[in-house]
Amino acid sequence: MTWLITGGAGYIGAHVVRAMTEAGERTVVYDDLSTGIAERVPPGVPLEVGSTLDRARLDRVLAGHGITGVVHLAAKKQVGESVDRPLHYYRENVEGLRVLLEAVAEAGVPSFVLSSSAAVYGTPDVDLVTEDTPCAPMSPYGETKLAGEWLVRATGRATGLSTASLRYFNVAGAASPELADTGVSNLVPMVFERLTEGASPRVFGDDYPTPDGTCVRDYIHVADLAEAHVAAARALETSPGRDLTLNIGRGEGVSVREMIDRINAITGYDRPPTVTPRRPGDPARVVASADRAATELGWKARYDVQDMITSAWEGWVRLHPEAARH
Ligand code: WQD
Repeated sequence: MTWLITGGAGYIGAHVVRAMTEAGERTVVYDDLSTGIAERVPPGVPLEVGSTLDRARLDRVLAGHGITGVVHLAAKKQVGESVDRPLHYYRENVEGLRVLLEAVAEAGVPSFVLSSSAAVYGTPDVDLVTEDTPCAPMSPYGETKLAGEWLVRATGRATGLSTASLRYFNVAGAASPELADTGVSNLVPMVFERLTEGASPRVFGDDYPTPDGTCVRDYIHVADLAEAHVAAARALETSPGRDLTLNIGRGEGVSVREMIDRINAITGYDRPPTVTPRRPGDPARVVASADRAATELGWKARYDVQDMITSAWEGWVRLHPEAARH
């Protein structure tokens, strides 16, 4: 099989490319390089620069490389930005996917894996979120991911396309320093940035109904997440006609305060956090039940929070050498 990885020059996409090629799959990257970095694409993997809104270009790439499966990660992913620019998010994430699916259906590509998100659940009122927990996204970003799942599923039903939507929980870490996240929009890099600047990490609210009052999340190592894509791709290859929707998490809740304590210990900083007001829209607790992915794919996360923080820190120090001198 030859897999087209859209968004393959991004943080998560580059990990998927690496895992898929190491698993012996042929891959081609399709990325508009708006946030992706060309250097993340390994030698030997073709990079096609283009937008998923560009139907003619997609047609040429699908035919030209003999694509037999697509892993679609190309998307806008900032929750806050999506509130300010909903039309942009719907265009990029929903219309971009619709155009891609049209091209995929017409080319007769049999398999499709969608990058989805725990953001589809919104504020789940359950201890462990299963795939049957009702979806109630709280941002345009989450809405576009849910609409994307609907598009993918409906296309599968209509055309026989075999599909998997993977709902990522909180992704962190790096498989190697050069693949680390360069963005500073999630907890781990945001704490790294504060420590590097000599400032105290911030806890956005400690009055949540959780054991230590801070928000609880399910952190998943990006290398484990990438392996879940390999497993999903294989499941679609070997049994056509699938329609999978799967949580990709570890099923273990970790609080913001615990994360910051671990980060301080691992980085050698010793800066207790300061508590600031709640960030609007943050659910108290979002933790996956990871059972269905284990049953359907035989996939389970291998790395823990220690591995995530350690590997993310190595990537951070590579980009910010001053962070190591304190
Ligand atoms: C985690 C927790 C913060 C920074 C979002 C999207 C999700 C997915 C991942 C996309 C929260 C707290 C953070 C800080 C803090 N996105 N925090 N101090 O919001 O769980 O999930 O990113 O693809 O869809 O919703 O992740 O990393 O922003 O925050 O206290 O300096 O850390 O309030 O409770 P979140 P996050």
